[in-house]
Amino acid sequence: MEQIHLLTGRNHRKAEAGQRNNGGQEGQNWQKDGNQAPLLEIENLYVGVGKGREIRNVLEGVTLPIAQGEIVGLVGESGCGKSMASLAILGLLPRGARITGGSIRYQGRELHSLPKDEMRKLRGKELSMIFQDPMTSLNPVLTIGEQLVEMITLHLGIKRREALEHAAEMLGKVGLSRAGMLLREYPHQLSGGMRQRVMIAIALSCSPNLLIADEPTTALDVSIQAQILDLMADFNRTDNTSILLVSHDLGVIAERCGKVAVMYAGQIVEMAATDRLFRSPQHPYTRGLIDSIPSPDKKGRPLYSIPGRVPGIAERGAGCHFAGRCPYADERCRLSAPPPVRLDEGHTVRCWAVGAEAEERRELAHA
Ligand SMILES: Nc1ncnc2c1ncn2[C@@H]1O[C@H](COP(=O)(O)OP(=O)(O)O)[C@@H](O)[C@H]1O
Ligand code: SF4
Ligand SMILES: [Mg+2]
Repeated sequence: MEQIHLLTGRNHRKAEAGQRNNGGQEGQNWQKDGNQAPLLEIENLYVGVGKGREIRNVLEGVTLPIAQGEIVGLVGESGCGKSMASLAILGLLPRGARITGGSIRYQGRELHSLPKDEMRKLRGKELSMIFQDPMTSLNPVLTIGEQLVEMITLHLGIKRREALEHAAEMLGKVGLSRAGMLLREYPHQLSGGMRQRVMIAIALSCSPNLLIADEPTTALDVSIQAQILDLMADFNRTDNTSILLVSHDLGVIAERCGKVAVMYAGQIVEMAATDRLFRSPQHPYTRGLIDSIPSPDKKGRPLYSIPGRVPGIAERGAGCHFAGRCPYADERCRLSAPPPVRLDEGHTVRCWAVGAEAEERRELAHA
């Protein structure tokens, strides 16, 4: 892979942009007493689908802070709401889905109430996204060059010739050689791995502050997966880009992220620094996911898989959504939903069996 060069001046630009964006009324809380608040703060977010009384929650009270330069993993089985959360951040929820509560603040500004054209300006420039299948997000009838140049001229306001030079530079930075030729090619002429690199080049071409990567390597084979993840990590190091890495694979997340949020049936059920989460997982779902990761010491034994499946949005009851699959579920779990409990700095869990109250109950039972 080609060497990734330092993106000179970009961090400086980001600091300037932060100050600029901080100048307005809404952005004034972004930097408090010199301590920088998270770049992005998702707080108690609800997303619903359907209409009137038929409205059902896809996301239920999601809280997730992301600091500048942080790589945060969002993990959970398919159908847990990871993509909905990602799309909600960018204001790209599918038809029929809408934010029904909570907030998403970017540099202190509420994204949910931002006018559409303001949001469009942020998207691609400051907040960017790559998806699992680049074929669905690359335009098949436009060359790679046209797609890159369109993004660059739209957001950076530079002339076409300069934009083409920047496009070629970006292709080099994502490890693609013969950039001149590639700019004239169409997506179908490239391999899956190359297309995903092009997507990353497009997503990072305007030096966004936050990159949301929704299952960016799921469609790729293992060796290409590692290269793509290395590439994103390089941008994080050199450009201080924050990354929300979304995956159903906790193994992928473990290696790359400083912090992990575990999502189950529309809720973050556990969140902690990665080493803490692996050293001391508290939620039974997190423990199940960790036990399901293949490893050499599990060789020869059948790999554990959590019994049952994620309930659909119409199947979620009033209690803990994991109760149907949890070996520790009791009556209380089935009847009422556990609130998030803060165990320690940065470690939260939603489970009746965890926390000071649970400890007290255990002590009383043994007295
Ligand atoms: N356009 C939609 N309309 C209604 N429900 C949807 C739509 N897209 C996804 N869902 C439902 O929302 C839930 C979360 O889906 P999604 O965010 O795609 O999960 P994940 O990305 O974790 O696999 C699922 O139960 C799914 O069936
Ligand atoms: S609240 Fe109950 S059912 Fe839910 S994870 Fe905890 S022990 Fe299991
Ligand atoms: Mg998804």
